[in-house]
Amino acid sequence: MKTALGTILITEEEIRRRISDLGRQISRDFALRGVTLVGILKGSFIFLADLIRAITPDIPVEVDFMSVSSYGDATTTSGTIHIEKDLGISIEGKDVIIVEDIVDTGLTLLHVYNILSARGARSLRVATLLEKPGNSKYDRPLEYVGFQIPNKFVVGFGLDFAQRYRNLSDIRVLDEI
Ligand code: IMP
Ligand code: MG
Repeated sequence: MKTALGTILITEEEIRRRISDLGRQISRDFALRGVTLVGILKGSFIFLADLIRAITPDIPVEVDFMSVSSYGDATTTSGTIHIEKDLGISIEGKDVIIVEDIVDTGLTLLHVYNILSARGARSLRVATLLEKPGNSKYDRPLEYVGFQIPNKFVVGFGLDFAQRYRNLSDIRVLDEI
């Protein structure tokens, strides 16, 4: 639907329903075991806030955040990564889900996965609200995917363009970018 501020690709209601499905799935997969969510800042903060509340209350859930910036181009996997903000908790021996806003080139995720797996997590899975098809350098499965979207630049629900539009409650494609 076209609005004064771009075209709505995924509505608030669709997002709400999908996150509630993912929460149910995670609750099933981690029943009794507990799970640690690691949100990748900043884009994932709204998705994570909803996802964590969609996990049933009887499951012990821990949460922490990390912030990374990657240098390197989209065509190689050799770019380096800088940890801007690291986790405050140990993930050794824990069942961890990395929570991302979107997997595009997959480079961010690839780096984060390697860092966290070197820290001895017992298991490491991925939840991403959005996935752009076809261009990911991350070749492992994405266990929890909200929506696959076309190869367009989207904003809203935590995702930004030049730090703006994170506050939109839906996912939109801006007209002029
Ligand atoms: P990557 O290319 O998979 O490493 O994605 C890196 C980061 O780029 C994501 O975590 C997002 O913050 C950002 N990004 C990629 N595609 C989009 C988009 O369509 N809208 C807003 N941010 C995006
Ligand atoms: Mg971003």
